Amino acid sequence: MTAITGHISAIKRPGELGVHSLDHHALIAPDLARAAEFYGSFGLDTKTVGNQLELYTPGNAHCWARIGEAGKKQLYYLSFGAYAEDMPAFRKRLADLGVELLPAPKGFESNGLWFRDPDGLLIEIRAAEKTSPTEKAPFACPSSGPNERGALPRKRTPVARPRRFSHLAMYCRDMDRSIAFYEKALGLRLADRAESIICFLYGIHGSDHHMLALITSNGSGLHHSSWDMGSVQNIGLGAMEMSRKGHKRGWGLGRHVLGSNYFHYVRDPWGSYAEYTADMDYVPVDRDWKTEFHDGEDSFYLWAGDPPDDFARNFEAE
Ligand SMILES: [Fe+2]
Repeated sequence: MTAITGHISAIKRPGELGVHSLDHHALIAPDLARAAEFYGSFGLDTKTVGNQLELYTPGNAHCWARIGEAGKKQLYYLSFGAYAEDMPAFRKRLADLGVELLPAPKGFESNGLWFRDPDGLLIEIRAAEKTSPTEKAPFACPSSGPNERGALPRKRTPVARPRRFSHLAMYCRDMDRSIAFYEKALGLRLADRAESIICFLYGIHGSDHHMLALITSNGSGLHHSSWDMGSVQNIGLGAMEMSRKGHKRGWGLGRHVLGSNYFHYVRDPWGSYAEYTADMDYVPVDRDWKTEFHDGEDSFYLWAGDPPDDFARNFEAE
């Protein structure tokens, strides 16, 4: 296990077992140079380590994503963070569920617990610092006073960059089966569900409304990674910068119903998306979200333009 000696968990729900964060995720991309250009333009710091690309948010040493190079874009694994003192209980939980433990994948060595989800996606639970927010993320809606200009000229407006990773949305084959797995094995909880189209899972130790979203498809795959911008203004600035650099395809500006977050999705070179997000609902450590089941049409988005026709097409399963 990763040693976090002397770490005392300040934010922890007592007496219950659950991961606290989606620590990082790993992708395979056909072209690392294109991945570096896309995520760098998106506002992330990129670092080449060996034959992998790592993604960071400015001023934060935490690696949010690792990208390896191979023939076809693929969501490779999810690594969830847990409190170090809970790792023996997770090992027992997985054994009780009959989940087979696996060696760490080559090139991504670590000492966490590795296994596969019902669709065969590699999952890790590792001892790690909590990287999910411990309170509702600040949201700014600045305005100007009388006789003051509210907007700077473009040249004097700084480029907006993500503050942190927010959540990941991925495809699954059987939503009921996947919800049961992520609840039982990892201790995530269902926040909201829209028919069998999409559902949203949060962590019990203080979490955004979702750290993981599941979309029904014919196999696993990445739909989007999402990055917190802190304001609608910064979402707009990020989207404009991506458009200026040629990444014009996507969807937004809009506001979701489930999670309540403002969004703008930018399509990556392989048909999945990176999402700028702000002001997502928050589930505090001492409360559970009131789970609701929704009509799909009525809960997808509150306002936005029409989504692309292939917005939920799983290119990884083709
Ligand atoms: Fe999202």
